[in-house]
Amino acid sequence: MKNVLVTGGAGFIGSNFIRFLLSHESGVRVINLDVLTYAGSLLNLEDLPDPERHIFIKGDICDSDLVNSLFQKYQIETVVHFAAESHVDRSILGPGQFIQTNIIGTFTLLEAARQAWITDKLTPLENCRFHHVSTDEVFGSLGQNDPPFNENTPYSPRSPYSASKASSDHLVRAYHHTYGLPVSITNCTNNYGPFQFPEKLIPLMIINAVAGKPLPVYGDGMQVRDWLYVDDHCEAIYLVLKNGQPGETYPVGGDNQPPNIEIIRTICEVLDELLPQSPHVPHSSLVKYVQDRPGHDRRYAMDISKIRSTLGWSPRKNLKSGLMETVSWYLQNQDWINAINQRGDYKNWMQDNYAERGQKK
Ligand code: NAD
Ligand code: DAU
Repeated sequence: MKNVLVTGGAGFIGSNFIRFLLSHESGVRVINLDVLTYAGSLLNLEDLPDPERHIFIKGDICDSDLVNSLFQKYQIETVVHFAAESHVDRSILGPGQFIQTNIIGTFTLLEAARQAWITDKLTPLENCRFHHVSTDEVFGSLGQNDPPFNENTPYSPRSPYSASKASSDHLVRAYHHTYGLPVSITNCTNNYGPFQFPEKLIPLMIINAVAGKPLPVYGDGMQVRDWLYVDDHCEAIYLVLKNGQPGETYPVGGDNQPPNIEIIRTICEVLDELLPQSPHVPHSSLVKYVQDRPGHDRRYAMDISKIRSTLGWSPRKNLKSGLMETVSWYLQNQDWINAINQRGDYKNWMQDNYAERGQKK
């Protein structure tokens, strides 16, 4: 790896990945293409190790002229594609941008890689890799006793978000089978950790609890997600880039699946411990059951035997210590939170998504 195009590198996982890559790969140069939607911020990239090896380009992955020019200018031989609209609730209220970014954006990148690596032969193909960062949500929803998803599970997406990610996965595989593009895919479960935008469950609950605001639990709170600390996901992607086989898909997950309400109660306990003087102790009294997410997937779980046995990867961080570190990070980064809280678009989102949900029970 010499010249790595990271898309969406100002977002949650992308910024953590760039930090990981720069500290693990001394010869690498990162070209970070990010349009800076509401979810992306240069604040997420302020503490990079060796920042001179990071080049930030503000631009859209759907802009084919720009993307083609980056392959030429920087001799890109590795792509790590994170850029996406990533929030399920937003895809329910406004699916159009998900189709544009997640499907057309991925198509645009694939075409640029095909042009540079296969048609123009700018870089020897054996050195190239297009890695697509995808999600477990493409597989649909599990019943209580169903076995976990694995790399052979048929696709069954059920939200506009997961359908757009499924579509992008299919395109990536099609470019491998049809044109011989050296691709790989990871389908990962729910990430958490520093720099996650507070529209997602864990940071939202931390920030609301600290402020003494209600903790909105969708439905009965018994939906199950499989939680993985973001650094573990970054390491999995890194190992797939180094040692994974072109054309392969690797499921990635945290091997732990508590129901949402249990995660929320754990966050409250951690806050009770870290902020014993808070007037909001016990923070669990802030829990408020609200109207469910339409089409809410009930349960996800991932069988990670393939990446464990072929690449020797397994999650390092357990949920309790990961949550403790994550809560501490949010407590110590009030400026980062304030920058988001003050934005009108964030206030509008909170209003649009939560005002109508009301009290469920
Ligand atoms: P995020 O929403 O925090 O960040 C997305 C980033 O992409 C932002 O910086 C945004 O500005 C950028 N972006 C959006 N549209 C763009 C465009 N058209 N051109 C250029 N940049 C654009 O997302 P995240 O949680 O970091 O997720 C990253 C990837 O990982 C996504 O593809 C997501 O589907 C996948 N994923 C996420 C999780 C999770 O739990 N967060 C789990 C599995 C897979
Ligand atoms: O599974 C991987 C996926 O995980 C990624 O592909 C997505 O990009 C990422 O956003 C995440 O999707 P989820 O929908 O699972 O994450 P979210 O944090 O939005 O919700 C987690 C669970 O918590 C889900 O069951 C819905 C519930 N929830 C969420 C919010 C925001 C609540 O009960 N209340 C809330 O306010």
